[in-house]
Amino acid sequence: MKKLAVITSGGDSPGMNAALFGVVKEAARHEIQVFGCVNGYIGIIKEEFMLLTESELFKVIDIGGTILGTQRFPGFADKDIQTKAVDILRKHEIDGLVVIGGDGSYQGAKALSQLGFPVAAIPGTIDNDIALTDITLGFHTAVENAVDAIDKIKTSAASHKHIFGIEVMGREASDIAIWAGLATAADGIIGTSEDWNLEKVLEGMRSSAGKSQIYILAEGAISAEKFKAEIESHSEFKIHPLVLGHIQRGGKPSVTDRIMGIKFGEKSVETLLAGKSGICLAVHANAIVELELGKVLSSTNKEPFLPY
Ligand code: ADP
Ligand code: F6P
Repeated sequence: MKKLAVITSGGDSPGMNAALFGVVKEAARHEIQVFGCVNGYIGIIKEEFMLLTESELFKVIDIGGTILGTQRFPGFADKDIQTKAVDILRKHEIDGLVVIGGDGSYQGAKALSQLGFPVAAIPGTIDNDIALTDITLGFHTAVENAVDAIDKIKTSAASHKHIFGIEVMGREASDIAIWAGLATAADGIIGTSEDWNLEKVLEGMRSSAGKSQIYILAEGAISAEKFKAEIESHSEFKIHPLVLGHIQRGGKPSVTDRIMGIKFGEKSVETLLAGKSGICLAVHANAIVELELGKVLSSTNKEPFLPY
């Protein structure tokens, strides 16, 4: 094995740069060159490759986002485009690909491996919505960011006795909402659309009437705007709606995400060196393990990190 390629794909997540460093570090130990494809799968198709070196990458482990860039490219679901990607990778004498991204990126990774190209995938998403792993890269930092912002909002809310409905990210997953809500002792957490019960929320609001209140809303459950509209049209309460947005994905990766990123990156190279393909990495009880992409993608077993 002489040359590997790596992409960061889907939403950026803190720790992706640390994972790139881990890939390059382990590859260098085996005298393998690593090329980063710019902006995810589209970078392969556009043949936008950049040589990554350990001496450059070690400078970015403390920086959020991804230095390779990432762009949504729905066209990659097309088998002809996937075949073209394999042809391009082979033309550039690339021996294997590391994909860092969420479950959409995993679909692309699985397709490439089914076309016979060696692929290893790293769970890089703030949403913590990949099955069969305790945690995904970036989740820890995103929750810290969310909690930091909510703590600040709470001091203002307390001064004015305001009621806030704060929408956090996570797509259909509720982990960010649950963790951020528990860590800030929120008055309510709406993690899924089944959790949404207007009467119950109003009951809680009435019992704390006159005090500031914070409700954490998973974006896949109910939006801050809808929460405001529902509460205000059925009660006397006034709601301050707030969408935390991309502040959750930004800033410096936590120590956990840096270390996890480096370890994931190193392990992905070991996996490819061992001749395996169609593998994704996961965390099970503090150990990094290899799983089959197909098994993870077909699993519905995605319990929140901590039950609530
Ligand atoms: P994430 O990887 O964070 O879940 P997306 O769902 O946006 O984010 O997926 C990232 C990229 O993965 C997409 O822009 C697309 O290039 C690729 N992708 C998504 N779904 C598929 C699919 N079904 N088949 C092949 N590639 C896919
Ligand atoms: O998948 C990560 C994520 O931040 C989700 O939590 C959110 O729904 C989505 O990406 C936002 O995507 P964009 O940055 O394209 O608006």
